[in-house]
Amino acid sequence: MKRDRIAEHNKQMWERLAKAAMNYTRPFGRPPKSRAGMRRFMDPRGRLKGIRLQGARVLGLAAGGGWDPVIFTKLGADVTVFDISPTQLKTVRELAARQRVKVRLVRGNMKDLSVFKDRSFDVIWHCHSLVFVDDAIRVLKEVGRVLAPGGTYLLSTMHPTTLRLYGTFRDGGWRPKITYFVDKPVPYLSEWDMTWTLGNKKLVAPTIEFGHRFETIVTGMVAGGMVVDGIWEFSPGPLEPDAEPGSDAHLDTLFPAFIEVRGRKLAAGALPPHTPRAARSAVAAKGTSRPRGR
Ligand SMILES: C[S@@+](CC[C@H](N)C(=O)[O-])C[C@H]1O[C@@H](n2cnc3c(N)ncnc32)[C@H](O)[C@@H]1O
Repeated sequence: MKRDRIAEHNKQMWERLAKAAMNYTRPFGRPPKSRAGMRRFMDPRGRLKGIRLQGARVLGLAAGGGWDPVIFTKLGADVTVFDISPTQLKTVRELAARQRVKVRLVRGNMKDLSVFKDRSFDVIWHCHSLVFVDDAIRVLKEVGRVLAPGGTYLLSTMHPTTLRLYGTFRDGGWRPKITYFVDKPVPYLSEWDMTWTLGNKKLVAPTIEFGHRFETIVTGMVAGGMVVDGIWEFSPGPLEPDAEPGSDAHLDTLFPAFIEVRGRKLAAGALPPHTPRAARSAVAAKGTSRPRGR
C-alpha cells in the first residue's frame, strides 16, 4: 500500500489522545456480570440482537482502547482487534490480561485488511472510526471481503450533516464548513474546534475527519457484497433542550450526532452481480434543475 499521510497523521493523534487517557482510549465504566447485561453495556441499542456470539469469529475494527473486544470474548466469541494505534492495542492487551481472557491484536490501517483471508469473520464491529479515513469505499469493500456469508457488519460513525456544522454558529444560524457534496476533510475553524475535553482535561489533537455521506456508505457496503438492513440516526441522550445556542449540545438537539448502519453479507450468488460506482459528487449536473411549480 502506498504511503497514507492521513492515516499516519491520525495514528499520531490517537497516540497523543491515548497517552493522555482521553475519551475512547480507556475502558470507561464497569460492565455488568450477566450475559444480558454485558450485551446491553456494549450494544445499548440492540443492533446485534439475536446474533449468536458464542463461538462467533468477531473482528473489532479500529476497536482499540475500550471494553468491547473483552466483552465479546466474555460472551464466548473468538476476537481479533485491528487498530492503527499501538497504545490503543496495548490498552486492550492489558485489560484482557486483567480480565483473564484472550484476544488477538493486529496493528494496521483499516484500508488494507490483507492480513485476513476472505470470509474470516462472522461479525465485524466498527465503532466511531470510519471518519478517520479518506476512502470509505475501500474500507467497506475490505470489510465485505473478510466477512463470511451470513455475517453481520455494524458501523457507527459521525453524522455527515452534523459533522459539517459543529462550531459554526454565527448570528443565530449554522453554516456548514463545507457543503454536503464535498468529500474533503472537514476543516477546523479554531483551536477550540480541535480540542478534545474530558472533565477538566483539554488536549489539542486535530484528527483529520471525513463526514462520509449515506450514499457513499451504502454504495461501499453493496460493493462489498452486503445488503443494508438497518440505518439509524441518533444523538447521545439525554438531549438538552436548554443547551447554550451554538454549543455542540445545542446542535445535537437539532441534528443527530451519529449514524449506525448494519449490513449482512449475502451468500454467493444471492443477488445478480452489481458493483455500483460511488457518485463522485452529488451536485446536480449542468442543465438539471429543481422541479418547479410545487
Ligand atoms: C474513536 S476511537 C474508537 C475506539 C473504540 N472502537 C471505541 O469505540 O471506543 C477511533 C479508533 O480508530 C483508530 N484508527 C484511526 N484511524 C485508523 C486507521 N486508518 N486504521 C485503523 N484504525 C484507525 C484509532 O487508533 C482509534 O483507536
